[in-house]
Amino acid sequence: MHRPRITVPEFGAFKAAGKKISVLTAYDHTMAKILDSAEIEAILVGDSMSMVVQGHDTTLPVTLDEIIYHAEMVGRAVERALVIVDMPFPTNHLGVHKAIENAGRILKETHCQAVKLEGGAEQSQVISGLVAAGIPVMAHVGLRPQSVHTMGGYKVQRDREQLLIDARAAQDAGAFGIVLECIPGTIAQEITAMLRIPTIGIGAGNGCDGQVLVINDLLGLTSGYVPRFVKQYADLKSVIVDAACRFRDDVRSGDFPAPEHAFRG
Ligand code: KIV
Repeated sequence: MHRPRITVPEFGAFKAAGKKISVLTAYDHTMAKILDSAEIEAILVGDSMSMVVQGHDTTLPVTLDEIIYHAEMVGRAVERALVIVDMPFPTNHLGVHKAIENAGRILKETHCQAVKLEGGAEQSQVISGLVAAGIPVMAHVGLRPQSVHTMGGYKVQRDREQLLIDARAAQDAGAFGIVLECIPGTIAQEITAMLRIPTIGIGAGNGCDGQVLVINDLLGLTSGYVPRFVKQYADLKSVIVDAACRFRDDVRSGDFPAPEHAFRG
């Protein structure tokens, strides 16, 4: 039987029910369909696409039009999971009115249900403006990759007091969930106990209400540096290289295409 998509209130209720939440990124229709069939609770069209799809060094270059282009493919593919889309830099920093215009485009043009933005206390006006406009918001505190230059690199964030202020402010402003990135597990656990909205950790230990990973990292598709918090569940890079090499060898030897791959006259 066809199950409708998980809604934002249902996502929030997982915490009270004690159900751990799995979130993965997806950037295209094929991957989104596969992850949806695995019954992942939420799919994030992350601005990490700037690095893992577009090959940039940071998440800063990806544009709103590019995020919408990818989110539309994902939105059409997903039947069951909640679909969340990142607001790319600096689309949530141009005033509340502009943030509503930008996030509004994401919801209107992609069939996705919510946006995620990086920030806590300093984004509280934007979060409440978006929520008042009917746009569900997931906040993101701790390491905020869009602020890599201000933070001086991709570093673990240890300012407990500021992290608690940011998390509380995001909830009070109306966020329905919050990503905690690269913070000590003890602080993540404290925030999780303090909030009524779910915390989704990445590099924040196992005391969060859920976990998120970048799909390319989980599948072993990432070349070069892989953060310590990643668990690689497959080595698809080797599988792909092996398949491509066997194809190349078959083409060179004439073994492909075989008679069964060809049409009769
Ligand atoms: O862009 C992204 O993929 C993210 C997750 C890693 C949380 O923000």
